[in-house]
Amino acid sequence: MRLTRDSRVAVMGAGAMGRGIAAVAAAAGHQVYLYDQDAAAAAAAPDAIAADWAGLVRAGKWTPERLDAARRRLRPVAQLSELADAALAIEAIVERLDAKQELLRRLEEVLSAETVLASNTSSLSITALAAGLRHPQRMLGLHFFNPATRMKLVEVVSGLSTAPLLADSLCALMRDWGKTPVATASTPGFIVNRVARPFYAEALRLLQERACAPATLDALLREAGGFALGPLELMDLIGHDVNFAVTQSVYQAMQQDSRFRPSPLQQELLAAGRLGRKSGHGFYDYSQTLPAPEA
Ligand code: NAI
Repeated sequence: MRLTRDSRVAVMGAGAMGRGIAAVAAAAGHQVYLYDQDAAAAAAAPDAIAADWAGLVRAGKWTPERLDAARRRLRPVAQLSELADAALAIEAIVERLDAKQELLRRLEEVLSAETVLASNTSSLSITALAAGLRHPQRMLGLHFFNPATRMKLVEVVSGLSTAPLLADSLCALMRDWGKTPVATASTPGFIVNRVARPFYAEALRLLQERACAPATLDALLREAGGFALGPLELMDLIGHDVNFAVTQSVYQAMQQDSRFRPSPLQQELLAAGRLGRKSGHGFYDYSQTLPAPEA
């Protein structure tokens, strides 16, 4: 199926990433459906996205009319059957293989056999996600980065069953959305999350060894290392629930290579409900400073 600006886009999962991806697609001119198992999350998404766009209006980058038009292109839906005419469906739900496979299986029942199925998974095998589908050749990874509205990079991931030309067509669409696509194969963690795992792991080990305070570690990596965010504040932005799931998935996929072993510190943060910015507390306390940083 040829994807144009007239193609309808469905986004499943109206969390941090789903909202961001929906915002990017609507800003590019698509009619966008938003579905979440939590219907209230989908219903609240257009206002949250419009609040973000209001910043562009205040900065003089968007007119109020452009915001209104883009806002009208966002449509929360309560049932998967309402996504039937989508030409591209991007899932951004919880980072669990079984949950994603089940959603994709249910999507195949309502979507046309031509609809492109994409996953925003950070780490799971696209080949495994496609495995239970009737038409696995229309499945690929579209891995956006957080926040999706500001980060240019998108990893376009082909699994073993992905149709050979699908990645080219999605790379062209991503360029049309103002993104910088990079085609890659379905390997554990793809490119960025694979390289990032030992980066996070070593920062976590340093904390466990009480080498320095979190703020010192982040400041060093920002100021001496040239990173936009240090590893601890970046994990707080990603969310420790998401980041731990990604660590576990890459560790298992890499045959429990010790370089990718999850840290007990991550489990402690989860046990304490400290998920990072989204819960108001991670390595840092955000109860007074909730707006997310620009990564
Ligand atoms: P989130 O926790 O903010 O949002 C997930 C949303 O999915 C929630 O609204 C939840 O109600 C919904 N959901 C969960 N299970 C569902 C199901 N079975 N059907 C429908 N909706 C369901 O998570 P976030 O951070 O948006 O991550 C989503 C995906 O994006 C994950 O696969 C994650 O690995 C990936 N990702 C996350 C990044 C990050 O920095 N947080 C960056 C890039 C990718």
